[in-house]
Amino acid sequence: MTDIIKNSIRAIHDYPKPGIVFRDITPLLANGEAFKATIEALVQRYQSKGLTKIVGIEARGFIFGTALAYALGIGFVPLRKPGKLPGKTIQQRYALEYGEDALEMHTDALDATDHVLIIDDLLATGGTVLAAVELMKHADVTVEECAFIIALNALPGAKRLQQASIPYYTLCEF
Ligand code: PRP
Ligand code: ADE
Repeated sequence: MTDIIKNSIRAIHDYPKPGIVFRDITPLLANGEAFKATIEALVQRYQSKGLTKIVGIEARGFIFGTALAYALGIGFVPLRKPGKLPGKTIQQRYALEYGEDALEMHTDALDATDHVLIIDDLLATGGTVLAAVELMKHADVTVEECAFIIALNALPGAKRLQQASIPYYTLCEF
């Protein structure tokens, strides 16, 4: 099942900067069989874990996170780039493979009773997901796991998550 997922991810060289190999998920999304296999693999793993919310990271984490939340019949909480959420927010800044950014969350989106899965399309340096985990600490929620479609082995994201004792799961690696 993971073959169809991995084989439908396209490499684009020198995007968005020279030297970066961009792993493009748009062919996977356009392929109904591959997209369905992706969500079904996640449903298999997470359907009996007692999750109360899926927390998705803007932008590509929204695509997989909302499909998974719908399939599991639980709610979805978006972590957004700065200035996009209308209510009271908390912010966490982070460094990227090709720049820097920040994530924001509504302060009333989650509480200490929540058990969440954080989801994004890709794990590279780990800066983004570690910022998401910091936001979860402010809300005092339990992070059951962080899930990614892709992990990039040449970058330190997986190692940083292991060092921080944060459980994670990836469907394919490059
Ligand atoms: C990409 C990707 C992850 C993040 C991973 O998003 O979708 O969110 O980078 O990188 P990291 O592990 O080094 O933090 P990007 O910031 O390009 O934003 P986008 O999804 O809005 O395009
Ligand atoms: N986000 C960070 N690094 C990336 C890469 N190499 N491909 C796609 N998305 C990314």
